[in-house]
Amino acid sequence: MSASALIAVLKGLLDQRGLLTEPADLEPYGHDWRGLFSGRPLCVALPRTVEEVSAVVLACSAAGHAVVPHGGNTGLSGGATPDDSGRQVVLSLSRMAAIRKIDVYGETMEVEAGCILQTAQEAAQAQGLLLPITLAAEGSARIGGILSTNAGGSNVLRYGMARSRVLGLEVVTADGAIVRGLRHLRKDNAGYDWKQWFIGSEGTLGIVTCAVLQLAPMPRHRVTAMLAVPDADAALKVLRAARQAIGDTLNAFELMSGAALELVSRHQQLRLPLAHSPWFVLIEAGSSLPGLRDAAEALLAEVLERGEASDGVVAESERQEAELWALRESITEAESKQGRSVKHDVSVPIPEIPAFLAAADEAVGRAFPGTRINAFGHVGDGNIHYNLIVPDGADGSALNAVVHDLVMVHGGSISAEHGVGQYRVGELLRCKASPEIVLANRVKRALDPAGLFNPGKVLPAL
Ligand code: MLT
Ligand code: ZN
Repeated sequence: MSASALIAVLKGLLDQRGLLTEPADLEPYGHDWRGLFSGRPLCVALPRTVEEVSAVVLACSAAGHAVVPHGGNTGLSGGATPDDSGRQVVLSLSRMAAIRKIDVYGETMEVEAGCILQTAQEAAQAQGLLLPITLAAEGSARIGGILSTNAGGSNVLRYGMARSRVLGLEVVTADGAIVRGLRHLRKDNAGYDWKQWFIGSEGTLGIVTCAVLQLAPMPRHRVTAMLAVPDADAALKVLRAARQAIGDTLNAFELMSGAALELVSRHQQLRLPLAHSPWFVLIEAGSSLPGLRDAAEALLAEVLERGEASDGVVAESERQEAELWALRESITEAESKQGRSVKHDVSVPIPEIPAFLAAADEAVGRAFPGTRINAFGHVGDGNIHYNLIVPDGADGSALNAVVHDLVMVHGGSISAEHGVGQYRVGELLRCKASPEIVLANRVKRALDPAGLFNPGKVLPAL
């Protein structure tokens, strides 16, 4: 079937607003938000129901045109950007955005894939509940993309990755079947846990259309503190002290280099509440029991006394809490204003963090003089964003290889929370053991034998 015949079929399946074909309308779907990945969609389908998603998938399959699922376009690995063949159909779930149900007894939410994360968070909050997925892009990221990439963020330490919130899923598979698994059950061992195949597989195995998410009780008290620490070793000591003192209440434990915060104060005009230090940590804890603030202040006194931290501040108001978080959440934007950056979203076992950072700083400094290291991340999960701001013309792949080789030496992963997308396919093949890649290809072939869904993402195109 020709491209124009497919467009005619899709027009017949969808309503007037359901298909975009004009170049100006396609433009935003042809690149990621940073403009690092670009392509040319044939058209953009915007179905309103799971039945329409199924019909679009079947039509594309019959016509031999690949389908690229698209959420809020906030990804960092090019997973939602089509290739430049001009043949791929972008499938946007943005018109399937309803919150279908919130169960306050079971603390669950049934939400369609196109719902913006912040909208879902606010709906949970209105019922006195917490949807504990928090990331800088929450005002634009959509639930379908968050689940398809198994997004992380800053409260994984307490609540786990996106995967761990999912109780039920509805997906459309490559044969157009609608698999309805929207169960609101904590316990469900009836056969394979197939929903896991579609979470974190970045739209390469099926289209997520709706999910049942496990909510959590909303902690009524919160405390946020920022500490200056001399080095990464000291940051781990503070982490250990925090785990022992208030571990069951710890939402986030973030690490930021002094260099990262210098970028923030320069480009975002934000004021640092503490004097310069090589490293800083940002800690947030939440509990419904009183006494959290006293415990946090005691923790701060203890680590200052032992010299594990050199200075610290506990936020006195919600406004101060927001100001502390703004420092952390502005790092990526400040980095992009500083220049071209090569990102590494790596994780290593927590005790390996100081040795990994030292080895990477040394190797990068030796092989790529002039590179500015911007390291920060979710240290409580072992996840470091080891980003490098590089001179124009620097060889990104060579930098990736140096950093990822060290990640392997330290027993880590080259993709902690941003996914593989199209950005890390080559590095995944290089760094992952071949039986794991063979297994992944077998799953892909079993669920999507014709390579209909998001070809060239996560794995090379079939
Ligand atoms: C963050 O944690 O702020 C982002 O995941 C990091 C990044 O943009 O590299
Ligand atoms: Zn992150």
